[in-house]
Amino acid sequence: MKKIIDAIACEVTAAFEACGYDGKYGKVTLSNRPDLCEFQCNGAMSAAKQYSCAPFMIADKVAGRLSGNPMFAEVNSVKPGFLNIILAPAYVAQYVNDMAGDAGRFGCEAAAEPLTIIVDYGGPNVAKPLHVGHLRSAIIGESVKRICKFMGHEVIGDVHLGDWGLQMGLIIVELKERRPELVYFDDSYEGAYPTEAPFTIAELEDIYPTASAKSKEDEGFKAAALLATGELQQGRRGYQALLGHILNVSVTDLKRNYRSLNVDFELWKGESDAQQYVPDMVQKMKEDGFAYLSDGALVVDVKEETDAKEIPPCIILKSDGASLYSTTDLATIVMRMEENRPDRIIYLADARQSMHFTQVFRCARKTGLVPESTELVHIGFGTMNGKDGKPFKTREGGVMRLEYLLDEINREMLKKITENRKEKENLEISDEEAGETANMVALAAVKYGDLSNQASKDYIFDVERFTSFEGNTGPYILYTIVRIRSILNRYVAEKGGLPARSGILPAHTAGEKSLMLVISRFNAMMENAFEELAPHRICAYIYELANEFNGFYHGTKILAEPDEEVQRSYISLLMLTEDILLTCIDVLGFSAPERM
Ligand code: ARG
Repeated sequence: MKKIIDAIACEVTAAFEACGYDGKYGKVTLSNRPDLCEFQCNGAMSAAKQYSCAPFMIADKVAGRLSGNPMFAEVNSVKPGFLNIILAPAYVAQYVNDMAGDAGRFGCEAAAEPLTIIVDYGGPNVAKPLHVGHLRSAIIGESVKRICKFMGHEVIGDVHLGDWGLQMGLIIVELKERRPELVYFDDSYEGAYPTEAPFTIAELEDIYPTASAKSKEDEGFKAAALLATGELQQGRRGYQALLGHILNVSVTDLKRNYRSLNVDFELWKGESDAQQYVPDMVQKMKEDGFAYLSDGALVVDVKEETDAKEIPPCIILKSDGASLYSTTDLATIVMRMEENRPDRIIYLADARQSMHFTQVFRCARKTGLVPESTELVHIGFGTMNGKDGKPFKTREGGVMRLEYLLDEINREMLKKITENRKEKENLEISDEEAGETANMVALAAVKYGDLSNQASKDYIFDVERFTSFEGNTGPYILYTIVRIRSILNRYVAEKGGLPARSGILPAHTAGEKSLMLVISRFNAMMENAFEELAPHRICAYIYELANEFNGFYHGTKILAEPDEEVQRSYISLLMLTEDILLTCIDVLGFSAPERM
């Protein structure tokens, strides 16, 4: 469906042309004076110069031309030369009815030529527990992925595990100290290795931090870990088998954690999967004359003349021949081009990694790993801070584990819901339902609290504010949905069924009309969220939609409306509002309970 603003611009443009002016002046925007009008066109102001006459004379003529057009209730020319536009209620009703008839898409067209898009997000490190630093990548990435999918693209989410590096060597060496008898450490062993892992996730999560602490104090331990890492990377059998176990145990636990976040990946590839592409890639970069030795390291220059700040060369191999974070990311691009041929790769990682991505993207482009047409995008997000404005920590000052953080919010939410239940004497809600609802609302609180901010900005993780049922929060949005559901349920109980979806009548009141007008902006908003890869646009929209709905709800007796036709129209409007809210929260990555 055409965006409503474009449909209006179309009429206004035609009117400019019919009055003898260039159509380009017919641009329409949302009104910045909602007290005066709904849309406006300032084209006469700019046209005045070209036609050397007073802007209001042009505006007058165009307004005259538009009078009688059934799309408009009023088009007023206002001095010095603005066109103030108010739509006809019947036109708005027609527009939202068409949306309601377009089930699931509500007038938002899917891409005619779908792109293949890889979203690289999550980025957890194997054997290390998920911490809040990974939370943003998962939450924003999941929503970005869903936005792209909603717009009809072919989207592949890849968790891109951090499974390549010193942490593996550390685990191996620590495990060897604890259990030297394990067959994995026996060089002469040639048989098959056990299929059962020699540790549980709990042990693994103890092994890694112990080893990491040791390596900081004990040079010998660190050297052994480095050696083990090297041997693993060179393919030592026993260590490879251990890597398999570490991955399995870790991934099982990660999947459980991500499931509780409603985050889900199409691909569970890791840094280790890209390593096989390194030798050929490096060879080619050398042959093509891009890579050269500098202080023993192999590097590719990526600076450009227009750079305002210094962009150091991208290091491909360290002087000892080892690969680095950048090497892995480059080789991963090679792998992805071979396996998926993406038109776009979107990376979700902390904004502090932006230099890394600048170097990797430039290097990939310069050395021809990606064609001109493949876009590489880094969405760099800000830090999640505590109320003290410093990076979020536990009370003891450590890194907060994601599980504990979520548990805390779930508990907080359950408390609120239980209070609410008592207050409303909603005692038919079982403890079990209350628990499930609490988890659902808690997830909405956390995700909305994050996604409603522009990703690049730091934000303060404020449990109290995020879990509030009022204000710009996830629970407020869910509360609105639940309110609509309860009205719809009562209607069905009384009348035995729901009315037709597209039975919305022209608005009777200003509140009803502004609700319809917000609804009508859905397709434009979604397209914009995709163009900017910005979930916060969706949050802003549903907050406005929820506010408009609640305004309408408070000003209108819906269930007590005596005129049945009018009442049916209200109910259809509620159904559409609910559908759009549900679609939006699904794209944001959370869902709504039946009641709260
Ligand atoms: N594992 C990394 C970290 O914990 C994030 C990975 C981001 N993705 C990438 N392709 N580099 O910081």
